[in-house]
Amino acid sequence: MTQNNSRFTGKTALITGGTSGMGAATARRLIAEGGQVIITGRDKARLDTAVAEITGGTAEFADRLLAVRADAADLTDLEALADTIRERFGRLDVVFANAGVGAFAPIGEVTAAEFDRIVGVNFRGVYFTIQQSLPLLADGGAIVINASWTLHRGLPGASVYAATKAAVHNLSRTLAADLSARRIRVNSISPGYITTPMFHENVAPEAHSDIIGAIAAGRLGTVEDIAGAVAFLASEEASYINGQDLVIDGGIATSTPAAML
Ligand SMILES: NC(=O)c1ccc[n+]([C@@H]2O[C@H](COP(=O)([O-])OP(=O)(O)OC[C@H]3O[C@@H](n4cnc5c(N)ncnc54)[C@H](OP(=O)(O)O)[C@@H]3O)[C@@H](O)[C@H]2O)c1
Repeated sequence: MTQNNSRFTGKTALITGGTSGMGAATARRLIAEGGQVIITGRDKARLDTAVAEITGGTAEFADRLLAVRADAADLTDLEALADTIRERFGRLDVVFANAGVGAFAPIGEVTAAEFDRIVGVNFRGVYFTIQQSLPLLADGGAIVINASWTLHRGLPGASVYAATKAAVHNLSRTLAADLSARRIRVNSISPGYITTPMFHENVAPEAHSDIIGAIAAGRLGTVEDIAGAVAFLASEEASYINGQDLVIDGGIATSTPAAML
């Protein structure tokens, strides 16, 4: 995707879960396109490392990146996060509700505590991140929620995870309607297999070639594939796209590679 270096000049974006993977890549992308970005995560040391990696030590970029420790599952943290953004920037133009946990097990092995943990970050966390951001979000702003291809196609062991992702996509449709008077657009993305720490935690190296064989694009996705799509949905170029889910998965949810037939 061609990069326009000024689409986010003068704009401020909140990215939850910005210490690694898609969140960090999207932070890099929006800053490179002129934006100011707030990233969150649960651990101060990880946030410090992420700031150094995202800015590459560039003073100009460092001025436009703020890292805030905030657990998306903790409403008190989300309220404090909104206060910090209000004091430092006064407003938001973009929210990328990206923080999430991936955990996979057959339904018989899912405990109530594990169910609550996954729902607490992936659905409740997204819901209250958006609720707490709304007073700061400018009219005409954009919300992008990170869902997953698993909301479109069943994956063994994903009963809780996939349901949270279906829930947040559904939320984008309802909120697009709720927020229409303020012209705030709300969309979700459904990444496929993207090579991030979460992917490597959940997929053994020996399974990679079978997965690639099931992807029509013939490769795993990169964080840059996602960052470009999020930047597009958050930008004016997507001003007539609302309440949608953009599947960015190389075809795994919808297409069978010829080699598999
Ligand atoms: N990778 C894939 O193949 C894939 C596919 C479809 C969808 N997704 C979705 O993409 C999103 C990003 O995941 P990723 O693959 O980029 O994984 P990742 O590199 O592991 O990043 C996950 C991010 O979420 C943060 N996070 C986790 N729990 C949090 C919490 N309670 N509060 C605040 N931040 C929290 C982590 O920060 P700390 O650990 O520093 O707190 C980290 O920055 C997730 O919602 C995931 O479900 C991933």
